[in-house]
Amino acid sequence: MDKMWAGRFQESLNKTADDFNSSIRFDKRMYAQDIRGSMAHAAMLGAQGIISQEDASVIIDALDGILSDLTSGKLPFDEASEDIHMFVEAELTKRIGDVGKKLHTARSRNDQVALDIRLYLRDETNEIIALIKELMAAIVRRAKEYAAAIMPGYTHLQRAQPITFGHHLMAYAMMLQRDVTRMEDALRRMNYSPLGSCALAGTTYDTDRMAVAKALGFDGITLNSLDGVSDRDFCVELLSAYAVLMMHLSRFSEEIILWASWEFKFVELSDAFSTGSSIMPQKKNPDMAELARGKTGRVYGDLMAMLTVLKGLPLAYNKDMQEDKEAIFDAIDTVKQCLAVFAPMIDTMTVLTANMRRAASNGFINATDCADYLVKKGLPFRSAYKITGTIVAECIARHTTLEDLPLEAYKAHSDLFDSDLYPEISLEACVEKRISEGGTGAQSVQKQIEFIESFLAGSDR
Ligand code: ARG
Repeated sequence: MDKMWAGRFQESLNKTADDFNSSIRFDKRMYAQDIRGSMAHAAMLGAQGIISQEDASVIIDALDGILSDLTSGKLPFDEASEDIHMFVEAELTKRIGDVGKKLHTARSRNDQVALDIRLYLRDETNEIIALIKELMAAIVRRAKEYAAAIMPGYTHLQRAQPITFGHHLMAYAMMLQRDVTRMEDALRRMNYSPLGSCALAGTTYDTDRMAVAKALGFDGITLNSLDGVSDRDFCVELLSAYAVLMMHLSRFSEEIILWASWEFKFVELSDAFSTGSSIMPQKKNPDMAELARGKTGRVYGDLMAMLTVLKGLPLAYNKDMQEDKEAIFDAIDTVKQCLAVFAPMIDTMTVLTANMRRAASNGFINATDCADYLVKKGLPFRSAYKITGTIVAECIARHTTLEDLPLEAYKAHSDLFDSDLYPEISLEACVEKRISEGGTGAQSVQKQIEFIESFLAGSDR
């Protein structure tokens, strides 16, 4: 097939070079965005009298037909086209003849592709946000169910203080809430139309960039045409927001993997979200969580690829920038897959509260509360801390717990101890007393749940 630029060339493009250069294999994913952009552009050309209104409607109708034929699969993509932009334009001209050749007036593929990626990222990121919200809703459901289930909270992966499973789960809801707002921030900054920047310098035609921007749901237009065609900051921003999201999912995954192990047995994943082993008949593996943890690396890689493509690129458009798409597409696919599997995995896992409770009863996780008891009786915290440490050492030597150590033993360390100690160091009391904002006390966790629920209700699209 002759290239669009064949007039200037004597020789045709080498086949290997053509394959290397072509992007339709992957950028066909943006066909709907490309056509939407072209329809808005044609309408503007007509309204401004750059082409006739009649030609504009013929173009728009034909583009609409191409859109539905591509969506229904009736029209196959021609992989011999260089990219999605060339393909749509060629198909348009095939359908309506010379009128189709007017569409590319006052436009370049450079501003066209800059527009398409923005539209594509906006659509996809909104889908990702909806998926994050589904996961948040699943987390809230489980957190409500286990608002009173006591488990050990950890630091250094050592049992630290008692918390509730509901509180622990809500920590992830908070991370995901920030992920949503991080993406919304990036979308807001990205939401300016580059169309009309043309190749790099703008155009001699009397275009109305603002009309196109409004028609496509943008908040305005990019103000420098060189920047408009060559800016991919928004790709970096969104990829880093996806990477942070994956980092959060990888931490959650890691905990689920630990909790599902025989060593912890805090949860059992549903069979529908577990796999077996080909050799070990007893195995039940948390593959979904492991894959989400593993795929985090891919998304980090996509972000790094994007940053590296842009590093040192001179203004304005360079073909290097065609490399933005596969990174973006891969990251979007990965994030969506992980979110899609995560929410039902959380929704269907069995929580083994008795095992959590048992783990919380060992490890002296009420030692801080024992020290606080002495503080409330008038001892400075550091002294109370020291005495409690000695008592813990004694418990370890006597193979007992703080709850079971007799009062005489306590009194040998300090006469401030009395029988009112025991209710103070029960695990339930340790949790209930943590009434500080954000703490593990029931009221505080309830507040956290309400915050996330109103976020989900308020910013739902
Ligand atoms: N396929 C190209 C890309 O994705 C479209 C823009 C091509 N522009 C150009 N002047 N070669 O970046």
